Amino acid sequence: MAMSEDLKRQAAAMALADVRPGMRLGLGTGSTAKHFVELLGEKVAAGFDCICVPTSEVTARQALSLNIPLSDLDTLDRLDMTIDGADELDANLNLIKGGGGALLREKIVASASDLMVVIADGSKLVETLGRFPLPIEVNRFGLGATRRVVAEVIAAHGAEGDLRLREATAGSPFMTDGGHLILDAFFGRISDPEALSRDLLDIAGVVQHGLFLKMCKKAYVATADGVKALSVDTN
Ligand code: 5RP
Repeated sequence: MAMSEDLKRQAAAMALADVRPGMRLGLGTGSTAKHFVELLGEKVAAGFDCICVPTSEVTARQALSLNIPLSDLDTLDRLDMTIDGADELDANLNLIKGGGGALLREKIVASASDLMVVIADGSKLVETLGRFPLPIEVNRFGLGATRRVVAEVIAAHGAEGDLRLREATAGSPFMTDGGHLILDAFFGRISDPEALSRDLLDIAGVVQHGLFLKMCKKAYVATADGVKALSVDTN
């Protein structure tokens, strides 16, 4: 296994140790979350009891293939814990997510969870959010108008680079599980994430964005020196 995959798996294994029988779990999306789902599948195959809500169709398919019992947020009103990856995390465990395009469902599931745990390799830790392009999920209707307003807002917040419509393949836009589009905003650094979050959500065509602020209370970050548990009190 490549080094970075091994680190992701180590972080996933640490999070798995927090899971108790009977828990209601949110399952994240991405290559790190995939390791967690794989490990959880092994536990379920050995008789472990849990019920899970996936944050994407991809994760749902993986979980089903491993016979992990699935439910949804119509049936379950709260979850005990969500385990997910991140594109970036800072020392306060504020995150950028959505590199895999699942940010809307990820945010809904994390918001319905008593605890959000992030698993990551050390390359995701940053001093200031913004190195990774911020995914902004937008409605397909009125894309041009929405894009112009988003461009104004991100420029006012100091974006250093472009605003790009994410593509699945050259010339065809990436579509989220909810049927929306994603604009990736290149900041470099985001100096006031709270204000940026508010300003983006004020735009009519914006469905959600990838800033997860004060949502994550615990993270397992794996480096060659071992897995570090980071935590913050967001109450
Ligand atoms: C998907 C996400 C992922 O958690 C994020 O992109 C990290 O992915 P990976 O573990 O593959 O680096 O937010 O929408």
